[in-house]
Order: sequence, then C-alpha cells, then structure tokens
Amino acid sequence: MALIKIKNLSVILGDKQALKNVNLEVEEGSVTAIVGPSGSGKTTLLRTLNLLQLPSEGGLEVDGISVSAKKISKSTVKQFRQKSTMVFQQFNLFKNLTALENVMSPLIYNKLAKFDEARQLALSILNEFGLSEIVNQYPVTLSGGQQQRVSIARALISKPKVVLFDEPTSALDPEMVSSVLNIIAKLASQNITMIIVTHEIEFARQIADQAIFIENGEVIDQGPAKTLLSVKGNGRISDFVNSLENRHQPIL
Ligand SMILES: Nc1ncnc2c1ncn2[C@@H]1O[C@H](COP(=O)(O)OP(=O)(O)OP(=O)(O)O)[C@@H](O)[C@H]1O
Ligand SMILES: [Mg+2]
Repeated sequence: MALIKIKNLSVILGDKQALKNVNLEVEEGSVTAIVGPSGSGKTTLLRTLNLLQLPSEGGLEVDGISVSAKKISKSTVKQFRQKSTMVFQQFNLFKNLTALENVMSPLIYNKLAKFDEARQLALSILNEFGLSEIVNQYPVTLSGGQQQRVSIARALISKPKVVLFDEPTSALDPEMVSSVLNIIAKLASQNITMIIVTHEIEFARQIADQAIFIENGEVIDQGPAKTLLSVKGNGRISDFVNSLENRHQPIL
C-alpha cells in the first residue's frame, strides 16, 4: 500500500503556478528521486508534502492522514508535520546550539522525550554517522559535510515516516559529497522512506526505486529510476540527464 498519495495537486505562489495537477504515489520503504531543471517546482513539492506550503488544489495523504486544499485545520497540519521531516541544501542548523543539542532539539522542543533519553538517542545516531568526535562543537566549526550529517541525524531522531531531502549535497565541496551520500544510501538500505531532490544522477540511479522528472510545475514522466534516468535516448529527460553528467567533466 502506498504510504504517500498525491492527487491532482496544484500550488500557486503569487501569480505563478508552481505545481500543476501533480499525481504521485510513494510506497513505504522506497526511495523516490525528483529531478528537473531550476524553477521546475521540486522544492515546492517537498515543502507541500510537509505542509510548509499549503496546496491550492487537490490533496495529499501521508500514512493515513489526508489533507485537501479546501479544508486544512491547524490540528491536521500538526499531525501531518509529524509524519515527515525535511533536510535542506543549506543545512539550517541552529547556530547557537552544539551538534548534539541540534540533534536533540526536535525531541526536547516537542516534548517527545526526557532530556537524558533524548541525549542518549542523539549520541547514538551521531556515533552511527561517524560524528562522535564533534558532538560538542557548534555548526560554524564544522565542515559542510559534517553539518549536513548532523542535520540528517536531527531529521531522523523523531523517527518520521518520511524524510524529504532537498538537494542535500549541492552546497557541499566535492570531497564532502560522498560522506553524505553514503549515509543516505545506508538509510535507503534500512528501508526508510525517502524523497530526494538531487542532481546526483548516478547516485539516484543506484539508490532510487522510482524517479520523477518535473518541468514547469508538471510531472513530465515517472518510472523506475534506472530507466527514467538513463543517458541513452534523445528525449527531453535524457538530454537533461546528459547535461548533468557532462557538468562533472573538467573544463579543458
Ligand atoms: N514565494 C514565491 N512567490 C512566487 N513565486 C515563487 C515563490 N517561491 C517560488 N516561486 C516560483 O515557483 C517556481 C518553483 O520554485 P521551486 O523553488 O519549487 O523550484 P525548484 O525546482 O526547487 O528550483 P531549484 O532547482 O532552483 O531549487 C519558480 O518559478 C519560482 O520562481
Ligand atoms: Mg529547489
């Protein structure tokens, strides 16, 4: 059964239709890659799944909780937000909290665990992510790769049903990218449901079950990641995929 169902979803931002009649289903334990050019609506789709952005038309269902554009109560928004967490391109860590305090913060602020329990849980995730050495450091003293791993730990600590990644490696120096991709691949192997906006096409082909290609707010195509993100062919999607693959080539 699908964990996430998106039906006829449209989102209008100002005078721009950012999403047009999007339909998508995501199976529990699967990985979905979202690929498409800049401004196509990828971030808007993730934000809507977390109700950071409200739908203008259509509806969403996550783990049995549904919302429709016509009727969204505050309590539904709260319930819905507990189902998913977002990991942002720019990490969005609290600058005045240490790595450990950042990871504990969702449990503490939402009163989901006592301090000692939250601390132990945060320490064990940080340890699993190879970050035990830096638990007491502030974000400004950490590399981008470390900050992003801390923010993934923070997203996971409240055990959401879905983790939404918005270009999690695109703000990183090239040598930091693999430390973050390795963690995401590990989560995929643990059957954590994830939706990932990424330009790392080879990575997406390897770990995603399904991929969707989005352009001008519309889902142009969707299917198995290995097929949809193939470099072969001369359609719009393979042109786009090829342009990303070529981006990694050194300029001579
Ligand atoms: N607050 C806003 N008001 C008006 N238009 C907006 C607003 N936020 C985003 N948009 C527009 O909505 C469209 C979709 O934006 P979105 O950020 O979802 O694209 P994206 O695919 O994530 O792009 P990128 O790859 O550059 O991150 C864009 O044309 C953008 O300019
Ligand atoms: Mg975006």
